[in-house]
Amino acid sequence: MTDDDLLSRADAIAERAYAPYSEFNVGVAVLARDGTVFEGVNVENAAYPLGLCAEENAIGTAVTQGYGPGDFEALAVNASPCGGCRQWLWQMKFDRIIFRNAGQVVTMSPAELLPETFDDL
Ligand code: THU
Repeated sequence: MTDDDLLSRADAIAERAYAPYSEFNVGVAVLARDGTVFEGVNVENAAYPLGLCAEENAIGTAVTQGYGPGDFEALAVNASPCGGCRQWLWQMKFDRIIFRNAGQVVTMSPAELLPETFDDL
């Protein structure tokens, strides 16, 4: 699976987002080192702060299946990851993050996305 393919998976799954408030559909595709791909979308709520980001849902699905920090190669998302999600990306020790930002495809490491990161482990 190439990074372009992974981003295409993210673009496609974004159609399943439940985002009636922001109308901003986000899709994520996570590539595990064993080749498994996990997907996630943002899920919003009438109580706005309860909304979940696509990254959280994709990572949560992977962890539910027994995967964890160090098991992941890359994560692709059709938007620039929010600040909170950058902390999640750091926690799961992805090698690289591929995302769309202002019409460009950008690839960065979690450390580049969140310098001087808080980490208690
Ligand atoms: N969103 C994500 O799912 N991931 C991000 O990294 C950026 C923001 C969602 C949250 C909310 O449902 C919508 O995009 C608008 O902020």
